[in-house]
Amino acid sequence: MSERFQYPLKPYNTFGFNVFAKQINIIFHPNELNELFLAQKINETSRVLGGGSNILFTQDFEGQLLKNEIKGRTTISETNETIDIAFGGGENWHETVIYCVNNNWGGIENLSLIPGTVGASPIQNIGAYGSEIKDTFLWLKAFNLKTGELETFNYSDCNFGYRDSYFKREGQNNYFITEVCFRLSKNPVINVQYGDIQAVLDNAKIEFPTIKDVSDAIISIRQSKLPNPSEIGNCGSFFKNPVILKSHFNTLQEKFPDIKSFPVSDTLVKVPAGWLIEKAGWKGKRFGAVGVHEKQALVLVNYGEGTGIEIKNLAQNILQNILETFEIQLEIEVNVW
Ligand code: EPU
Repeated sequence: MSERFQYPLKPYNTFGFNVFAKQINIIFHPNELNELFLAQKINETSRVLGGGSNILFTQDFEGQLLKNEIKGRTTISETNETIDIAFGGGENWHETVIYCVNNNWGGIENLSLIPGTVGASPIQNIGAYGSEIKDTFLWLKAFNLKTGELETFNYSDCNFGYRDSYFKREGQNNYFITEVCFRLSKNPVINVQYGDIQAVLDNAKIEFPTIKDVSDAIISIRQSKLPNPSEIGNCGSFFKNPVILKSHFNTLQEKFPDIKSFPVSDTLVKVPAGWLIEKAGWKGKRFGAVGVHEKQALVLVNYGEGTGIEIKNLAQNILQNILETFEIQLEIEVNVW
């Protein structure tokens, strides 16, 4: 373990803000959490940091950060059809996806190129291109920062929802996820229903795609739409796609005939926040060093010298404007610290 003070967080947050942590402990093994706990060095200011790809720092962090660097992968069990494989919470998510794709283990290939770590993936049940982490999730191990116990959470304990889980609600800030296990398929069934995936495959004249082809197609779609955090600071989707009543949607459709939606239930639909924000005129707008991305209005960006406060103010203006224009209360998806 390494312990540092007044630590620069610029490389540790994908918005690229120049903020500092009062204290940071870099954790390479679950035992180190136990040692810290027994030495009473974990307290109510302690927070866990994964890849920093879903956090908006609005100021220096005045507490203790526990940075997850727990690596490793363990095959738990295997049949002719499936493999149950656990990864250290500090493993890079995309590298994990590529490792599985290269082994032809299917189930997470549609989640290619999502920034962040394995340990953070269940917290907001990461999802993209027709897949969510909950579809392959088996269990996770998490160190309880209040009791010092290493707990196991099975699927039903996690209460997964759209960009949501137990760890964003009752369990918030209480757990350090050390390991996550997925059940992957050795006979992958590909999922190319969402958006442009099929069109990209057709364009490349791929008739019988492998999961590697699907992963490659998704990587190229993401690269064409989403800013690369190493070039332009961002946290991916800044807002969640709102779920609204169908009756409300029907009223909006009279005024905005091209409004998009995804079915949720008999009475509810999900509306793409990117569409709403674009329709309201925000897409590509720049305010000093921050702005709304030009190709995906759901993504707020830091062009270089912006601050977390500027992003937060921009987000608040957008929230207010979307409420006035569509009577829809958007919800911020990233954690604001
Ligand atoms: N749209 C617009 N304008 C925009 C953005 C989107 O009109 O600026 C429209 C698109 O034309 C399309 C619809 O909205 O009809 C959906 O767009 P897209 O496929 O880009 O997906 P999204 O709903 O905007 C969600 C996730 C993304 C994920 C994509 C693909 C959320 C909050 N975001 O975005 O996740 O990559 O679907 O599955 O659900 C992330 O979480 O960081 C993230 C990027």
